[in-house]
Amino acid sequence: MTQLPGNLQTIESHFLDLQSLHPGASGDFTGLLNDITFAAKIISREVTKAGLVDILGATEEENIQGEVVQKLDDYANRIFLKCLGKRGQVCIMGSEEMADPIFVPANQGSGSYIVVFDPLDGSSNIDANVSVSTIFGIWRRHSRRQHVCTEDLLQPGSELVGAGYIVYGSSTMFVYTAGHGVHGFTLDPSIGEFLLSHENIATPFQGGLYSCNEAYEPFWPGPVTEMVHELKRGRGPYRGRMTSRYIGSLVADFHRNLLYGGVYLYPPTSDKPEGKLRLMCEAAPLAMVVENAGGYASDGRRSIMDIAPTDLHQRVPLYIGSREDVLWIEKKLSEPDGSL
Ligand code: AHG
Ligand code: MN
Ligand code: MN
Repeated sequence: MTQLPGNLQTIESHFLDLQSLHPGASGDFTGLLNDITFAAKIISREVTKAGLVDILGATEEENIQGEVVQKLDDYANRIFLKCLGKRGQVCIMGSEEMADPIFVPANQGSGSYIVVFDPLDGSSNIDANVSVSTIFGIWRRHSRRQHVCTEDLLQPGSELVGAGYIVYGSSTMFVYTAGHGVHGFTLDPSIGEFLLSHENIATPFQGGLYSCNEAYEPFWPGPVTEMVHELKRGRGPYRGRMTSRYIGSLVADFHRNLLYGGVYLYPPTSDKPEGKLRLMCEAAPLAMVVENAGGYASDGRRSIMDIAPTDLHQRVPLYIGSREDVLWIEKKLSEPDGSL
């Protein structure tokens, strides 16, 4: 007879357990997380069959970032908008793929939550069957005005009430935090459920992996190059030489380092002084995840969580992962001769 595993929990029942920690909760946050889960299942289905249907390859369009939009990027974006918009818990939706946020009109049941997402991160890897991901961050609306505006949208990571990602890899995993630990769920496609597989993820305080695109080394500020050389020589907090792992798909790199320990870095370069990654839809949500797992995220000087955005598509240098490693990097780059 097949034995049932001891800890059989679906993501939906985990969300309900979370809700029970907040007596008087309306259920809107739970509903929102369920909508994200539903979107994730649909995107996962499309990503896994991408090699089978004529959905691979780029469209002719460029997005607001000036990058070629992949067909699956566009599909994932539309699925997210459709799933999030339907129950009225969301008042603003911001996407990496859209120049402007969507402000839900008050007469359509403008809700209490703001969701910013990258519908498909790492999409340039799709044609090579490399892991891609969805990243999301959830903020609460603070104003009581009738119509929401940009001011409601532009909040720092410290105000996030939930964040997470779905990585479409060798299996599909949903990792989220709502401030009560970081939990990972693996999709069982045969029953269409995300099952709890990684409860209370704690990232190592130090790690042996560093992940960056070293092709940019000639264009990094000198102190960044020096700092990476020290990591390689084993002069960082990790007692040993660190080794390199770089997929070039942010969440896949981040997720591996979260589990094994290490740092992901995307420093500024001479041609991209702000770095490449986006504060609101990439860096801040992952910063909330890593902090709740015991790690840390910095722009090289300060916590990513403390940066108040001035624009939905604002970019930021990113150093994220094991706490002691990232604090050491921040200290190195903040030294008087470490100026960026
Ligand atoms: P996106 O596909 O959403 O535009 O983001 C891609 C990002 C991220 O996934 C990855 O870590 C980084 O771009 C890789 O950039 P480089 O090719 O410059 O290393
Ligand atoms: Mn992205
Ligand atoms: Mn993207």
